[in-house]
Amino acid sequence: MSPVHSITGRLTAMFALAALLVLSLLGYALDRELATVLERQQVEQLDTKFQDIDYVLQRLRGPEQWARIHAKLDALTPPNRSTQYWILSDDPRIRYGNALAEIVGIRLGANSVGELRIGGQVEPMLIRSDYLPANERHAALRFIVGVDSGPYARTRRTFRSVMLVSVSGGMLLAALIGYFIAHSGLVPLKRLSQEAYALSPNMLSQRLMTAKLPAELSDLVGSFNGALDRLEVAYQQLESFNADVTHELRTPLTNLIGNTQVALSRERSVPQLVEVLQSNLEDLERLRGIVNDMLFLARANLGERPQQLLFTSLATEVHKTIEFLDFLLEEAQVSVRVQGDARAPIESALFCRAVTNLLHNAIRHSEPGAEIVVELVSRDGQAHVSVSNPGPDIPHEHLGRLFDRFYRVDASRTKSGESHGLGLAIVKAVAAMHAGNVFAASSDGITTVGFSVSTGAHEKQNHNPLIS
Ligand SMILES: Nc1ncnc2c1ncn2[C@@H]1O[C@H](COP(=O)(O)OP(=O)(O)OP(=O)(O)O)[C@@H](O)[C@H]1O
Ligand SMILES: [Mg+2]
Repeated sequence: MSPVHSITGRLTAMFALAALLVLSLLGYALDRELATVLERQQVEQLDTKFQDIDYVLQRLRGPEQWARIHAKLDALTPPNRSTQYWILSDDPRIRYGNALAEIVGIRLGANSVGELRIGGQVEPMLIRSDYLPANERHAALRFIVGVDSGPYARTRRTFRSVMLVSVSGGMLLAALIGYFIAHSGLVPLKRLSQEAYALSPNMLSQRLMTAKLPAELSDLVGSFNGALDRLEVAYQQLESFNADVTHELRTPLTNLIGNTQVALSRERSVPQLVEVLQSNLEDLERLRGIVNDMLFLARANLGERPQQLLFTSLATEVHKTIEFLDFLLEEAQVSVRVQGDARAPIESALFCRAVTNLLHNAIRHSEPGAEIVVELVSRDGQAHVSVSNPGPDIPHEHLGRLFDRFYRVDASRTKSGESHGLGLAIVKAVAAMHAGNVFAASSDGITTVGFSVSTGAHEKQNHNPLIS
């Protein structure tokens, strides 16, 4: 892993940078302070020496005293020449000082303090100078005291080198400490990653441990475990769905194989074979029905949207559907009444399929002579289609699951071959495709099952030009 993408790498670099910044600022401040202190010391040293000699010069009585002054200056000059004196004047008797000829430059600033450079010397001398105009006792002269600034400059250079080493060392140390802090701080994360790695579909109930985790991680682990809960439910649903599918397909397949085996067991006449083929065809059609329904649900689940939305009267669509079911209604001796109307953008084929499924159920669960009521109401941006029929109440605990795939209230009907329990799942899928929902209620001998479709918001989502 590249250091940029590793938390340890980043934290180490950040620690090192922070240390560099803090130590550099500290070093700079100390360097400035040291410079000020050293400069003050130099000036103080210079001032003391200057005042001593200035005092003597101010009290000079005659030219005969110059020899004494020169001797005193000789005595005051240390052998290493860290302090030096010069007297510049036109009068050669007054003139004094080492290497007068080698002075290459004098620069004076405020308070007559400045620098003097002697050829061949690396560091300039720090000087203080005074000018005494000519009087009856001596010619005009300039008196200079200089102290060598070399030792001070060397002290600062040494300090800077020490600082440079300290800053680099401090930075490395901080990086090292940062590395260990980050490394040990990330141990719980590593443990989690190992735990997560060990998760497998064979142990779906396994969860990541939240105990002893830092607060920052326990929230994350809580959310992750929540996702695992949902995955487990979805996985179990899928498993039971697979079991249901197998079960539903097995019955017609067993029938097909059984019928065919019986038919082949001995010589059959043509009419007998036709009968077997007809019976097989019914089973095959049932199989096709299940497969088609499952395919539809799978596509809807993958987010397939309606192809052509048309803003239309739902009552008209319901009447069209009832006409198709005429024969079934007559056979069951039930009637249908359509109440109200609503307009919504729908795909007619999908809408009719959902209404057909609801009517099929209502017809199947109604006694002869019953009246089925289809009610259309527009409310809260949704057009509600509800199909009510008289019949025994569905127990409350089943109502929430009616729309699950393969769910049937009466389990004994499962084997009857009449239904596969996909009708209401398809109603739910159609409602979802139209940004709607489903509902079911059953009380006082009336069962109402229905769905809704969006009346307007859906239109904006789809940007379908067919909607008028
Ligand atoms: N009007 C109703 N009255 C009583 N029970 C109903 C009604 N509508 C649905 N149910 C119950 O809900 C179950 C699920 O209905 P669904 O339409 O999904 O499946 P199905 O009718 O059994 O099979 P399919 O519709 O695939 O032929 C039914 O098996 C039935 O028990
Ligand atoms: Mg049904």
